[in-house]
Amino acid sequence: MIEFRNIWKSFGGQVVLRGIDLRVMRGEILFIIGASGVGKSVTIKHVVGLIRPDRGEILLDGQRIDDLDERHMYAVRRRCAMVFQHSTLLDSMTVLDNVALPLIKHRRLSSARAREQARAYLDRVQMSEFADLLPAALSDGMRKRVAIARALTMEPEYILFDEPTTGLDPVSARRVDALIRGLSRDLGVTTVVVSHDLTSIFSIADRIAFLYQGKVHALGTPDQLRRSTDEVVQQFISGRAEGPMETPGF
Ligand SMILES: Nc1ncnc2c1ncn2[C@@H]1O[C@H](COP(=O)(O)OP(=O)(O)OP(=O)(O)O)[C@@H](O)[C@H]1O
Ligand SMILES: [Mg+2]
Repeated sequence: MIEFRNIWKSFGGQVVLRGIDLRVMRGEILFIIGASGVGKSVTIKHVVGLIRPDRGEILLDGQRIDDLDERHMYAVRRRCAMVFQHSTLLDSMTVLDNVALPLIKHRRLSSARAREQARAYLDRVQMSEFADLLPAALSDGMRKRVAIARALTMEPEYILFDEPTTGLDPVSARRVDALIRGLSRDLGVTTVVVSHDLTSIFSIADRIAFLYQGKVHALGTPDQLRRSTDEVVQQFISGRAEGPMETPGF
């Protein structure tokens, strides 16, 4: 379980998080949603130590992780993989070598063994037939799937996705949704997804946390959020642009 306890974070004079309280339960797919700039990416970056809180605590299976040094944070990053919005694949290496690299570097497999396993991970995301291509030859959706295969090489217990379907065409987006759902179901990975994509949200989320003004403003199942009478929640999930904005006067 990942637990955020009263997390506060400012940048310069701007207070972004104002006491985030949230528990991610084992095995679930939890979506974090909310307006652009509300602090969704900042929230999940706390889990892997890319951002440290000004105040509050983060616990992983009951152990505090917000105050760990880099050496101990490394162990956390092996358990919690993060898939970033923009591809972080190495352009000069084939798809296969991109996925084999962490197996060689972190799991210390021989090059031949790493490549063999990398193929199996690529198969898991239906990308094995593209193993010998360079990332530049792939579509965004395909690159996303390779990035997911690479994250799986660490056999993480948790995967954090930042906007996995943003910028993808609807067919690719639904494939990524199906993949996330499948990983959760087949491997039991606990999943946190930051997203704007209403289709993903309402088709694969077990629970949704809606951030507003630096806090978890609403939390519940997709059905509970759909039925919410809260005006800001309704405005977001109905995709309406009018109504109260995150930044008044913006
Ligand atoms: N490293 C940083 N230094 C300074 N400001 C930052 C930093 N990271 C985030 N911010 C600011 O914190 C706020 C929240 O950013 P964040 O990226 O979490 O938004 P978001 O909810 O993920 O938005 P989007 O949906 O557009 O991705 C923004 O105003 C952003 O400019
Ligand atoms: Mg973001």
